[in-house]
Amino acid sequence: MAANRTSIHGQWSSRWIFILAATGSAVGLGNIWRFPYETAENGGGAFVLVYLVCIALVGLPVLMAETMIGRRGRQSPINSMKSLAEEEQCSRYWQLVGIFGVAAGFLILTFYSVVAGWTLSYVFRALSGVFSHSSVAQIQNMFAALTSDPLRLLAWHTIFMAMTIVVIARGVKGGLEQAVRFLMPVLFALVLVLVCYSLTMPGLSQAIAYLFKPDFSQINPGTILSGLGHAFFTLSLGMGAIMAYGAYLPEHISIPRASLTIAALDTCVALLAGIAIFPIMFSYGLQPHEAGAGLIFKVLPIAFGKMPMGNIIGLLFFVLLMFAAWTSAISLMEPATAWLVERKGLTRVRAAAYTGGLAWVLGIGSLLSLNLWSKVKLFGMTFFGLVEYLSVNIMLPLGGLLIAVFAGWFMSRASTSDELNLTGYGYKAWKLGVRFIAPLGVLLIMLHTLFGIF
Ligand code: PFF
Repeated sequence: MAANRTSIHGQWSSRWIFILAATGSAVGLGNIWRFPYETAENGGGAFVLVYLVCIALVGLPVLMAETMIGRRGRQSPINSMKSLAEEEQCSRYWQLVGIFGVAAGFLILTFYSVVAGWTLSYVFRALSGVFSHSSVAQIQNMFAALTSDPLRLLAWHTIFMAMTIVVIARGVKGGLEQAVRFLMPVLFALVLVLVCYSLTMPGLSQAIAYLFKPDFSQINPGTILSGLGHAFFTLSLGMGAIMAYGAYLPEHISIPRASLTIAALDTCVALLAGIAIFPIMFSYGLQPHEAGAGLIFKVLPIAFGKMPMGNIIGLLFFVLLMFAAWTSAISLMEPATAWLVERKGLTRVRAAAYTGGLAWVLGIGSLLSLNLWSKVKLFGMTFFGLVEYLSVNIMLPLGGLLIAVFAGWFMSRASTSDELNLTGYGYKAWKLGVRFIAPLGVLLIMLHTLFGIF
C-alpha cells in the first residue's frame, strides 16, 4: 500500500480480532436497549425493514470509509485525518473532522457509562433473585428508585468507568484484544441461549410477525429518518471509533469483506435480540410500545419474575447487556486516549486515566440531571439531554457526513481503490454510497432532527 505508515499503538493480531473488536464496538446498548424500543415506537416491521435498507445503503459504505481512513492514517482519528488531508493536498481543516469525532466519542462515553451503570446494577438485582418476589409496581419502581439516587448511580458509573479504563490502559494487544477475545464469544453465546429460550415461548409467532411483517402504511419520513439514525448509531459511525480501530488493522486484510462481516454480525445481534426480547413480552401480555426508553428495564424484569428459570434468564440478559456496553465503551475511550499518547507523549496508563477521569467527571453532570438537577435546564434540556443531543444528533451525523464527503470527493481514486482493494462494480457501488447516498441521507437526518423538517 502506498501510505506505508505504522501505528505506534500496535496492531490487531488477526482479521478475526479486528472483526470482534469492531463488532464489539457496534454491538452495544444500541442493539439491545435502543433497537427494541425504537422498533416498538416506529411501527415494528416497517422500522426493521427501513433500518436494514439503511445499513446496506448508508452504513456499509461509511463503515468502509472510516476503516479505510484509519488504516491509511495509522493514528488517532485527529492525526489520521491530518495526515490524509496533507497526502491528498486538501485543506488542513479536514483535521477538524477527526477532532469532532474524538470529542463526540468522548461526550457519548460520559453518559454511556451512566446507562451502562444501570445494567451493572440490574446484573446484581437479577443475581439477588429480587424479580421473582416483586409485584409489577415494585419492579417499575425499582427503575425510578435507581435513577433518583445519585450516590447509587455514582457508584455504578464509577465502577463501569474504571472497568473501561483498565482495559484501555493495558493497550491494544494486552487490553482491547484480550477483552474482546473473551467478551465477544460469551456475548454471542448469551444471545443464542436467550434466543433458544424465546423460541419455546407462546408469544413467538406474534413476535416474529411484529418484527418481520412490515405494515407498509407505517413507513413515512419519520420512520425512514429514525432507521437511518439508528443505523449510524448502531454501527458506531461518525465518531472516530471505527477509524481508531482501523488504524490497527494489518495491511493484507480486505476492508470490504471485514466491513460486510461487521455490519452483518451487528445486524444479526440486533435482530436476535429482538427475537429474544419480544416473545418474552408478548407471552406475558406486556405491550412494548407503551414503555419508551425504559422498555428493557421496566418491562422485561416483570416477565423474568413470572417465567420458569426467570432469575437465571434475567441474569444472562443483563450480563449480556453489560458486556455489550463494555466493549462499546472501550471503543469510545480509545480515540481520545490514542490522541493523548501521540500528542502529549503520555503513557497509555496516564492517557487512559485522564480520558476516563474527565469523562467520569462530566458523567456526574448527567447522573445528577436524573435527580438533583432534574429541574436545571439548558436550552430546554437537562444536562444529560443536552450532552446526548449534541453528541448523537449533531456531532455524530455531521461527522459521518464529512467523513463520507472526504472519502468520496476529496480522496483520490488511486488511494481509495488501493486501500480498499476494490475495482469494477464493487468500487462504483461504494463510491455511489459515499458520494451521494450517505451524504444526502445524513443531511436528511440533520434537517429532520435539527429543524423538524419532514
Ligand atoms: N454502537 C454502539 C451501540 O450500538 O450501542 C454505540 C456506540 C459505540 C456509538 C461506539 C459510537 C461509538 F463510537
